[in-house]
Amino acid sequence: MDAVVKQWIVQATPVSVPHPTRVVLFGLGQIGQRVARLAGSRGGFEIIGAADIDPAKVGRSLREVCQSAELPDVRVVGSVEEIRAAAGAVALHTTGSQVGRIAAELTALAQQKLNVVSSAEELLEPWARDAEVADALDQTAKEQGVTLVGAGVNPGFVMDLLPVALTCVCQVVNKVSVQRVVDAATRRPALQKKVGAGMTAQEFLAEVEAGRMGHVGLVESALFVAQAMGWRLDRLEEVLGPMMAERDLTTDVLTVGAGTVAGIKHTAEGYVGDKLVLDLDLRMYVGAEEPHDAVQIEGEPPLDVVVRGGTAGDAATAAALVNAAPRVAAAAPGLVRLRELALAQFAPAEGLRLAVRAEASDKGKTGAPRGTGG
Ligand SMILES: NC(=O)c1ccc[n+]([C@@H]2O[C@H](COP(=O)([O-])OP(=O)(O)OC[C@H]3O[C@@H](n4cnc5c(N)ncnc54)[C@H](OP(=O)(O)O)[C@@H]3O)[C@@H](O)[C@H]2O)c1
Repeated sequence: MDAVVKQWIVQATPVSVPHPTRVVLFGLGQIGQRVARLAGSRGGFEIIGAADIDPAKVGRSLREVCQSAELPDVRVVGSVEEIRAAAGAVALHTTGSQVGRIAAELTALAQQKLNVVSSAEELLEPWARDAEVADALDQTAKEQGVTLVGAGVNPGFVMDLLPVALTCVCQVVNKVSVQRVVDAATRRPALQKKVGAGMTAQEFLAEVEAGRMGHVGLVESALFVAQAMGWRLDRLEEVLGPMMAERDLTTDVLTVGAGTVAGIKHTAEGYVGDKLVLDLDLRMYVGAEEPHDAVQIEGEPPLDVVVRGGTAGDAATAAALVNAAPRVAAAAPGLVRLRELALAQFAPAEGLRLAVRAEASDKGKTGAPRGTGG
């Protein structure tokens, strides 16, 4: 005999009466539709309304817009004011990236007494770029008794929440480094275009100069980590350049010729004095080999974690929004940061308490072992 097998009988007792989290979809683009399909197919969520400004979607059934028979037959409306009895529900907001541009939408949602989880990248650190706008949103949310938060895959997980969560076992943290390599061909068409795939280097750099190119939210990820670590950054350097294609590449939506831009290399380095404490390196390009996410924490104990294949972005973004919804509904009012919510995790349909008892044949065989804490 080289092992002792023990069979446990597991007893599950519901600890909370399952009642679904009521959600409203606000924005039905690629991400909004994925969010709708996920919320519609998972237990624990009830879709009570959907809004989008696109005239081609307004008036149609959500089922039809999202091409999913699993969804309720809810009519898509043009504004949130048209959704009845929405107070207390959670709006899953997926219309844009910049806080300044979506502030009016968030205010309207809060005034309808809706909580909000938004995929807007800048909302991860809403005070980073315009504190006045963020303060106004915070005040409105508090007055209306609702909670607003930004969530997503990146920002929202890979380069911020994940490394911060890992530091919960660190006595000392000297430096945080994160690398994310994404094959843009696996992402939605909007993202493939957003990384400049198929452009010449000059076209790409002109778009960067005009602020129309690259990943939104790297600065927010850097501030999220630095604030969580209590680092007063003296300097933050962001660099955005092209990854060039070495061979001809084709995706479902575009062609990238050899010698043209395949995507982006976007980095952010944070310094305290002359010391590099934060090193974020994001590469999203068509044809990326060995996609992965990797985090290194220099400290005590040091940590070196790799997600092989990387975190699949669009599926993960939809999940991040849906999974955050019950926690946002239960959080204290205001504009909050994701790390201030109870730990974001998969949202089960019911709360359970699990207990074990050994099968009769095992009884009396075991002593009380000492913990190993391994
Ligand atoms: N944090 C993350 O990890 C993460 C990940 C993925 C995406 N994102 C962000 O999430 C957002 C959504 O992505 P996407 O690819 O789904 O974008 P998209 O395809 O452009 O979808 C946005 C949708 O919202 C609609 N819309 C725009 N303004 C609106 C308003 N005021 N009221 C109601 N609907 C409105 C748009 O309608 P029109 O088409 O008529 O404008 C469109 O249907 C983007 O900003 C993206 O950068 C974040």
